[in-house]
Amino acid sequence: MPGTEQVEQILAEALAAVNAASSLSDLDAIDVKYLARKGAITSVLKSLKDLPLEERKAVGAAANSARIKLEETISAAKSRFQQAGIISTFDPTLPGIARRIGAIHPITRVIDSMCETFRGMGFTIAKGPDIETDYYNFEALNFPPDHPARDMQDTFYLENGLLLRTHTTPVQVRELEKSKPPVKIITPGRTYRNEAISTRSYCVFHQVDGFLVDEGVTMGDLKGVLVAFCRDFYGEGLKLRFRPSFFPFTEPSAEVDISCFLCGGKGCQLCKYEGWLEILGCGMIDPNVLKNVGYDSEKYTGFAFGIGVERTAMLKYRINDIRLFYENDIRFIRQFK
Ligand code: DAH
Repeated sequence: MPGTEQVEQILAEALAAVNAASSLSDLDAIDVKYLARKGAITSVLKSLKDLPLEERKAVGAAANSARIKLEETISAAKSRFQQAGIISTFDPTLPGIARRIGAIHPITRVIDSMCETFRGMGFTIAKGPDIETDYYNFEALNFPPDHPARDMQDTFYLENGLLLRTHTTPVQVRELEKSKPPVKIITPGRTYRNEAISTRSYCVFHQVDGFLVDEGVTMGDLKGVLVAFCRDFYGEGLKLRFRPSFFPFTEPSAEVDISCFLCGGKGCQLCKYEGWLEILGCGMIDPNVLKNVGYDSEKYTGFAFGIGVERTAMLKYRINDIRLFYENDIRFIRQFK
């Protein structure tokens, strides 16, 4: 039969175990060993009924206070461990959790920056639909049916006779139809061509078109605007060169080269040792286009230009594969400021 001495011994042993415990699970094990249904102290309390009255009182009191003492000691030790646990996992010297933020796509950056430059020259911005009719994409722009110039633009035709616009120039027609001269507009947007995908061409790309129609507009005005744009966009000290070209909707037509901004025209890999980089197509709006939108082509003249955004971004940021723009790899996109 247990006596008070034995109870004290059990308590001393249990307290020593609590002292030696090094984790919350050690404490749980002590709780089971001494206080649970079959625990040592519980067993003493259960056996009291077999003791003579005097002894029962003494042993009962000792066992009860041992139980209380042990419960308190275990619970105090538990909260010490819990606090220590929190402290050991909280290191104020570690860097915080960085919130990953997105980045502006280089194509969007280039479009925004071009629009900003032209806005500074008094142009407004207009947009048109990606899905176009043959009329706006070709016919109104002076591409007659079966004209070989249509082959220059590999078109995605839709089932209903509509098509995905192959350039942003149709917005010129839509805007001219809605307005009266003077009109001075920039039309940025997405364009589509059914071309073989390679490092230099993709089925989706972007253009920034612009045009100005008024009385007495000349090729000199076109040059003035494009020189101002190039200085602002690419930097001072560039040379521009106009080369004759052909577009059905402009007459005369030209392509513009800038002196290579990397080598200053001496010749390098970027300009393929030519010293020049082709950056846009332009010209005086063909009188037929002005007639198609109901303008008096004897009274009004205008110029227009179209800039390839991907090509510009590739030159500006030295990107050697157009497909990178469309892979949605955030590591790529984050590189551009
Ligand atoms: N639309 C032409 C293309 O996609 C680019 C262009 C050239 C636009 C001359 C113009 C322009 O407005 O005047 O190749």
